[in-house]
Amino acid sequence: MVSKEQMDALFSQAEKAASLAYAVYSKFHVGAALLCEDGSVITGVNVENRSYGLTVCAERNAVFTGVGQGKRKFIALAISTPDSTEPVGPCGACRQVLSEFMPPSAQVRFAGSGPKQVDSTIGELLPHDSLYDLADKRIS
Ligand code: THU
Repeated sequence: MVSKEQMDALFSQAEKAASLAYAVYSKFHVGAALLCEDGSVITGVNVENRSYGLTVCAERNAVFTGVGQGKRKFIALAISTPDSTEPVGPCGACRQVLSEFMPPSAQVRFAGSGPKQVDSTIGELLPHDSLYDLADKRIS
């Protein structure tokens, strides 16, 4: 179980990362911070492209960066969307990718610039994940 202090710190890192997003088209900055099993933190930002469909979300960029650094299991995720007042959760594609490397119990926090924050889990965000057991290879 990740403590409240750890989640607060993780969210601060997501907030900081959001300022680095390359969001010149949508003007919607997103920062994601993943807490790895070994205690390290990997951040990611959304990177847009003038060929709009090539845009990659902050969450997937964080996962791909982590895997490229040898991380295979993330135990918590924080997402900051400072350009929205309300919290914005990860898109469907990101939920699927996140679930490959995070257990259903992994905590997820997301918040915008307003006072509201959502604390959830990967299992709540991607329920009925019947293919989860097939992902056992991810630790090896
Ligand atoms: N975006 C993310 O980075 N993560 C999400 O979960 C939702 C959307 C990005 C993609 C695009 O650059 C911008 O936010 C607007 O959709």
